[in-house]
Amino acid sequence: MKRIAITGASGLVGSNVAYKAKQKLSVLGLGFSFPPRIENCTSGILDITDQNACKNCLMDFRADFVVHSAAYASLGGCEKSPDLAYEVNVKGTENVAKVCHSLRAKMIYISTDWVFDGKKELSERYTENDLPSPLNCYGKTKREGEIATQNNTDDWVILRVANVYGHNFAIPQQWSLWEERSIQRNSWAVKVISLLRKGKAIKQPTQISQSPTLASDIAEVILEVCSRNLQGIYHVAGRENTNRYEFVKEIARVFDLEEDLVLLGTPEDLLLSFAVDHSIVPQLINELPRNASLDVSKIEKTLDRKMTGYEEGLKIMKAQLRGREKRE
Ligand SMILES: NC(=O)c1ccc[n+]([C@@H]2O[C@H](COP(=O)([O-])OP(=O)(O)OC[C@H]3O[C@@H](n4cnc5c(N)ncnc54)[C@H](OP(=O)(O)O)[C@@H]3O)[C@@H](O)[C@H]2O)c1
Repeated sequence: MKRIAITGASGLVGSNVAYKAKQKLSVLGLGFSFPPRIENCTSGILDITDQNACKNCLMDFRADFVVHSAAYASLGGCEKSPDLAYEVNVKGTENVAKVCHSLRAKMIYISTDWVFDGKKELSERYTENDLPSPLNCYGKTKREGEIATQNNTDDWVILRVANVYGHNFAIPQQWSLWEERSIQRNSWAVKVISLLRKGKAIKQPTQISQSPTLASDIAEVILEVCSRNLQGIYHVAGRENTNRYEFVKEIARVFDLEEDLVLLGTPEDLLLSFAVDHSIVPQLINELPRNASLDVSKIEKTLDRKMTGYEEGLKIMKAQLRGREKRE
């Protein structure tokens, strides 16, 4: 059986990869603050900024594939602590890439739509041939992570994903799904659902457009990328683009929650819903890509599959959350 190591397996994307991969591959799921407990996966702890730890951990496991989804993924956190963002997102990625090179393992780096400046017309989407031009610290360090991947190993794949929604399968079984610590570790969409369940109003803007991506879709694509031995850059996102206001409206509809609680807001409201520190909101407003919608035709053609649109994807997410609730 081939072996897959996943950094960031305690996070949203990594846990979905581990959850799907365990059916076909031997899985090592690596967390940072805690070891992700996913049935039938070996779990461990890795700080990717520690070069020796990266070497020991991935070499000992003799990984054939390394999915590198670990990141300092907080937009506000990166802006406030750019040194830490660089250390994790750039140096950490370089460390992982160097070990992949020594191991001759395929490296799959998870990147973001926010490597683009989002200045395209609303009718247009970014393709893999468009030049990245990130606006904020998070996007800049993720772009540098792409370059660190390309420069430090030969067998690499970069997958750009966007506004990922779904369920984090690494949330410990003994935690209930709707308690605060579970919500905090889960996707932004789950945080939105939790607010609407409590009857709280949510303001979101129409000015910020993306291609919402179902986390389990990313996991399925990664398994195909490994089995077909793909290389290069691919946009792996939902086939429908939308703005945050419409996305949250759809969440309310699919989850049978009060649609009237979703109100028109501003980009500031989006930043505040990311729990961005008030002091950096004025700066980040100018660094938010307006339309970072991704063109997914390359991955769809290569894999002969359709990426899930957000209306259908939210229904799949609902079934995933129900499955979790039933086990509680
Ligand atoms: N979520 C989105 O909307 C989105 C959109 C575009 C791109 N992405 C990209 O997708 C990837 C996964 O994102 P996500 O949403 O799954 O993020 P997440 O839920 O915040 O998970 C981030 C993961 O990185 C780990 N981590 C943080 N610092 C680390 C370090 N120094 N060493 C090792 N691991 C470390 C965390 O470990 P602990 O939890 O154990 O601390 C966690 O497992 C990231 O590369 C992100 O840039 C995400």
